Amino acid sequence: MPAMKLLILPGDGIGPEVMAEVRKVIDWFGANRGLDFSVEEDLVGGAAYDAHGAPLSDETMAKAQSVDAVLLGAVGGPAYDNLDFSLKPERGLLRLRKEMDLYANLRPAQCFDALADYSSLKKDIVAGLDIMIVRELTSGMYFGEPRGIHTEGNERVGINTHRYTTSEIRRVGRSAFELAMKRGKRVCSMEKANVMEAGILWREEIEVIAKDYPEIELSHMYADNGAMQLVRNPKQFDVIVTDNLFGDILSDCAAMLTGSLGMLPSASLGAPMENGRPKALYEPVHGSAPDIAGQGKANPCACLLSFAMALRYSFDLGAEADMLEAAVNEVLDQGVRTADLAQSEGATPVSTAEMGDAVLAAMDSNDW
Ligand code: IPM
Ligand code: MG
Repeated sequence: MPAMKLLILPGDGIGPEVMAEVRKVIDWFGANRGLDFSVEEDLVGGAAYDAHGAPLSDETMAKAQSVDAVLLGAVGGPAYDNLDFSLKPERGLLRLRKEMDLYANLRPAQCFDALADYSSLKKDIVAGLDIMIVRELTSGMYFGEPRGIHTEGNERVGINTHRYTTSEIRRVGRSAFELAMKRGKRVCSMEKANVMEAGILWREEIEVIAKDYPEIELSHMYADNGAMQLVRNPKQFDVIVTDNLFGDILSDCAAMLTGSLGMLPSASLGAPMENGRPKALYEPVHGSAPDIAGQGKANPCACLLSFAMALRYSFDLGAEADMLEAAVNEVLDQGVRTADLAQSEGATPVSTAEMGDAVLAAMDSNDW
């Protein structure tokens, strides 16, 4: 098998620290399981702006297009708050999503048993939670034209456009149905068909896709009700499919159900490349956390679990992904906690690197 090509973009804030732990895991799989990864590293976000004056250089974009999977840490920080819109760190991430055409963003929200007490919701509402949000990532309000700010008489006017086409809705719909087939066989589609034409189209096109999946139980929900239901009774959901902007909001809401933003991975997938692997970018859901950057306090688990998603979705290495996920679970069961989690238990926190080492030790000690 040819080497599996990875491009690592640690980015800003805690990105480099958590990514360093992923590199250890990549090396572990090389040494212990004979997995042949070739790894390149480059800049994105504020780090790229500092070096090149742009949040993603054309060279880095080209590299991202040529590898099997991109692993991204986080982008952004207060130093870049006043930059022109087009130069902000986030634009680097949005360019990757758009130019790689990563239309299906998978955001699992899983409640780890050892962490069920961390949620702001009652334990019995979240214990055992396992839902998957599939967010459309390359269209809708984030990218629709016309957009901009202009002046009309005495008024300034800000415009963004919420626009979806048949094919854009159908392809992300298919991703959601395919995932549901491997899970609980239920899909809930969320939009605002009561007020938005694009919502009506969304609902109709999802219905069309559903005909190809007779085993799937499909339901529809207005997105505002969806937000309420996520907090009221999240375990009613299996797979949720929704547009870019609603998905941004609903996935943050779902993330917090688990009580631990530092634990949540994501995958952004596009069409298959020539070698059959999908275009793909993996990143933790947490941001760059500038307040704790560089202090060794960050929780690397979300980034490690994002790499597990890469093993599963890019390289079809489901057993290895299970192995890494089980090791993270085991370490949590042992009571090992980074600072984000230690506080509420009064436990002594371990550092980012110690958490990574504990996961490696769990992988070492298990007889896989
Ligand atoms: C996310 C983030 C991004 C988004 C930002 C950083 C541009 O909030 O991945 O959810 O809005 O999509
Ligand atoms: Mg977001």
